[in-house]
Amino acid sequence: MNKNQLIVFDTTLRDGEQSPGASMTRDEKVRIAKMLEKMNVDVIEAGFAIASPGDFESVKAVAEQVKDSTICSLARAVTIDIERAGEAIKSANSGRIHTFIATSPIHMKYKLMMEPEQVLEHAVKMVTLARDLCDDVEFSLEDGSRSEFDFQCRIIEATINAGARTINIPDTVGYGVPKEYGSMFKRVIENVPNADKAIFSTHCHNDLGLAVANSLAAVENGARQVECTINGLGERAGNASLEEIVMAIKTRGDAYAITTAINPVHIVSTSRLVSSITGFPVQPNKAIVGANAFAHESGIHQDGVLKHRETYEIMQAESVGWKSNKLVLGKHSGRAAVRARFDELGISFDSQARLDDAFRGFKELADKKHEIFDEDLQALVSGVNEPQVIEKYTFSDLEAISKSGEKPSASLILHVDGNRHSCKAEGDGVVDAAFKAIEMVVNSNSDLKLYLVSAVTEGTDSLGEVTVRLEKNNAIVNGIGTDTDIIAASVKAYLNALNLLDSGIFRAHPQKDGI
Ligand code: KIV
Ligand code: ZN
Repeated sequence: MNKNQLIVFDTTLRDGEQSPGASMTRDEKVRIAKMLEKMNVDVIEAGFAIASPGDFESVKAVAEQVKDSTICSLARAVTIDIERAGEAIKSANSGRIHTFIATSPIHMKYKLMMEPEQVLEHAVKMVTLARDLCDDVEFSLEDGSRSEFDFQCRIIEATINAGARTINIPDTVGYGVPKEYGSMFKRVIENVPNADKAIFSTHCHNDLGLAVANSLAAVENGARQVECTINGLGERAGNASLEEIVMAIKTRGDAYAITTAINPVHIVSTSRLVSSITGFPVQPNKAIVGANAFAHESGIHQDGVLKHRETYEIMQAESVGWKSNKLVLGKHSGRAAVRARFDELGISFDSQARLDDAFRGFKELADKKHEIFDEDLQALVSGVNEPQVIEKYTFSDLEAISKSGEKPSASLILHVDGNRHSCKAEGDGVVDAAFKAIEMVVNSNSDLKLYLVSAVTEGTDSLGEVTVRLEKNNAIVNGIGTDTDIIAASVKAYLNALNLLDSGIFRAHPQKDGI
């Protein structure tokens, strides 16, 4: 192991999925995992195998289909969790079991109701079990940053002796500050006698907006694995963001003297994929992947950049996948060009029929919209490889009326299993009216949890991408619809959500039932 190479451990598919509403289907996880693999992520935490049959299947599918990264499943320090994790990663080229137990006084007393000695003994037993199933075992001290130093050292020494190869000390509740969190790593590494037998790992939450700073402080003090997520997705305020850590290390090699294997050119497309799958938009001013991250607005800045780029630019937008010439295709582009562009964006199709659908969609869009950008192509195919979506509900003849001083209304023909239903309703706006009209026929009994519209590119002819999140009996679906007309995009998204619910392609919150 090269001491100057940082292991990048991505947990978008596990901790990222713990953001309420961000849960993903198996096929969505595989698509994201393939992008992470392409980016050279060292370890992909694909899920929490015991959490649900769906999560087990997701970890298993990622382990079967992604071969260049280590595939990891989380497991509580509980026998059935560890066995299930071992089962899920069995077919991986390189698999890892990541087991954890809380080690802070407050967690041990009130949550686990265990004495420290029992926790230590149990952790050793569970790491030993995990090592029987897998050579690569990571042990995490949950709430590690609030744990007592002597206990940290004892449990770390004992679990390394039991076979843990990676020791993770998370800042579970995002309470740490860089100076303190960094020096904790230094002290622990200096005081644990067998510390040289393991890689130390950092895992930070962003409750105080310090997740990236804390992670980098840990790296400066000896951590050689960093756990992070795309777009900083994650429980509560999220996790440390992969793109920020990677680019900080790359741009400030002078300050960190460490490298990663990550190929940053895939960062923007991966960010976009995660955002469209989860329905979590990226804020425009988000570092690296926000729409404004490389936009120079003020005259002074623009002048400086034109004269000498480095006056105001510390990184090149192209290095993380922003295209300087974003115009890629137009109305006359042929199938080969469209396919090649999809390939470059990391979008593949699992059948000829799906490629044909995408090409048809491209032609329809090119008729409405003069210039087709990468973002348009990505929006066009979001969800395209989703299997088994039965198109029970479709629509035609949408009409929306919005007139000053009058109640907005919408009417459409809803096709249910091929039968036509004409429906019309009034609402607080035309979108509300259209959804009410649909519900008059469908009566889905679902709750609308999110309605999100974003413009895929610039300009008023931009494709509007709408995400509609529905929840019914603990099942969550994210329907996505795109169109140059946002009312049509909204109806498409709503019907897509209903079709997903109906096809049983939903996501359950991965940590429901106290897991
Ligand atoms: O935040 C945390 O402590 C975790 C552990 C399970 C690693 O996510
Ligand atoms: Zn976490």
